[in-house]
Amino acid sequence: MASYLSQLKDKSLFIEQCLVNGRWIHAKSGRTFKVENPATGEAIGECPEFSKDDTEAAINAAAQAFNSFRKVTARGRAKLLRGWYNLMLENADDLSLLVTLENGKVLAEAKGEVAYAASFLEWFSEEAPRTYGDTIPATNAGNQVITIKEPVGVCALITPWNFPAAMITRKAGAALAAGCTVVIKSPAETPFTANALVELAHRAGVPKGVINVITTDRNIVEVGRTLTMSPLVKKVSFTGSTNVGKLLMRQCAETTLKKISLELGGNAPFIVFDDADIEAAVQGALVSKFRSSGQTCVCANRIFVQDAVYDKFANKLAAHVRDNFVVGDSLKSANVTHGPLIHDRAVQKVHEHVIDAVSKGAKILVGGRKVPELGPNFFQPTVLAGMTCEMKLASEETFGPVAGLFRFKTEQEVVKLANSTDMGLAAYFFTKDNQRAWRVAKALEVGMVGLNTGLISDSAAPFGGIKSSGFGREGSKYGIEEYMTVKMITFYYGVTSAI
Ligand code: SIN
Repeated sequence: MASYLSQLKDKSLFIEQCLVNGRWIHAKSGRTFKVENPATGEAIGECPEFSKDDTEAAINAAAQAFNSFRKVTARGRAKLLRGWYNLMLENADDLSLLVTLENGKVLAEAKGEVAYAASFLEWFSEEAPRTYGDTIPATNAGNQVITIKEPVGVCALITPWNFPAAMITRKAGAALAAGCTVVIKSPAETPFTANALVELAHRAGVPKGVINVITTDRNIVEVGRTLTMSPLVKKVSFTGSTNVGKLLMRQCAETTLKKISLELGGNAPFIVFDDADIEAAVQGALVSKFRSSGQTCVCANRIFVQDAVYDKFANKLAAHVRDNFVVGDSLKSANVTHGPLIHDRAVQKVHEHVIDAVSKGAKILVGGRKVPELGPNFFQPTVLAGMTCEMKLASEETFGPVAGLFRFKTEQEVVKLANSTDMGLAAYFFTKDNQRAWRVAKALEVGMVGLNTGLISDSAAPFGGIKSSGFGREGSKYGIEEYMTVKMITFYYGVTSAI
């Protein structure tokens, strides 16, 4: 067992297998892949390399379990989710350690993620008993129309590495609340958090087959096709890149028409108007840009600052990054504020964006380089001034710790710039003018707006995008709807006028 793992209070939460039909198993082939700590490059452990056959076994288990799980009362499902939530809180330290070990985000952030992840189980335990239908006055005499909500069936949940805990519970919490059963394909980079979570669900009494978790690395295409093309799978929920989302959607349409939710890439504009509280805007930018070292879909990607406050904002932001941010491995040193990126490909992309911007005239205010002395996956938190639309960062999601500052003059100009992207996930803006607040919030082409805040993530708030950022909503009262269908029943009670 790798050295950090010995710090787990409950060592049985570290699981190098997949859960299928209530049993932790290996791949039939016996093949595995290695999972590495991005901070050190050390192997944390191995997980099964699942194939088509292995995946089909998990789907079959979920289909079998659905027959009985759909009959569990809403209150019964709520109790299971609440039990799972309680176990997450009891094991929060171990879960946070696993998140940091395999994702690299600093321990304080990992703890925040675990609390955020648990909040989805709490939220959906409360939503489960409230999936009301309607009674509808009918057009035709003698009829009464009613609707009921039914679970869609087996769901394939394909989750990303940037939130190893929260993206599992945000999807699985909603699915179970609705009465669905699931096959979770956890990411090859961060499978151990998912395994620990699923083990806790099992301990909370979630019946066998209701949650299955599978892993793969090299067989990702085969496993993806199996999940999307199986006639037993009725819904696919995916968080990841737009390209993969499009591919999965095509595959979902090839055999059966599945319900789909896609939470895809972003390229969030972050706008600071000259009437904003600049200190608050700086704090907002720090949170929105540098959370998880810039590796969230809702991270500010393009920071637009109005002419009159540009220099003030840029200097304050750069000073904060220079004076307060410490890059490193938070398991080695408690004062570290920002961990490594997930792998060297991520570092490469971030570096490319910086080099491209500088070659086209941008100025580095702070950071701007790799940190090989810490390891191949570290990059300095960076602030760039003098950004222009010709630079790569303007049109591509950096997914790393680079704040690129663009200067603008008018509200009209900046709204146009903000919307000049295919992506439409999140946007942020800072202003003290109420009329501008409404005007700009409505004009931004995104699914989520942060007004005078850089943090919009909340289990109570609908999360999701428009345009090439996908569709469907997670969390909130809308999240559970993604896992249900509406059944209409027309009741004919007759047209006699006896009473
Ligand atoms: C994501 O990056 O996909 C999720 C971010 C969040 O929930 O805050």
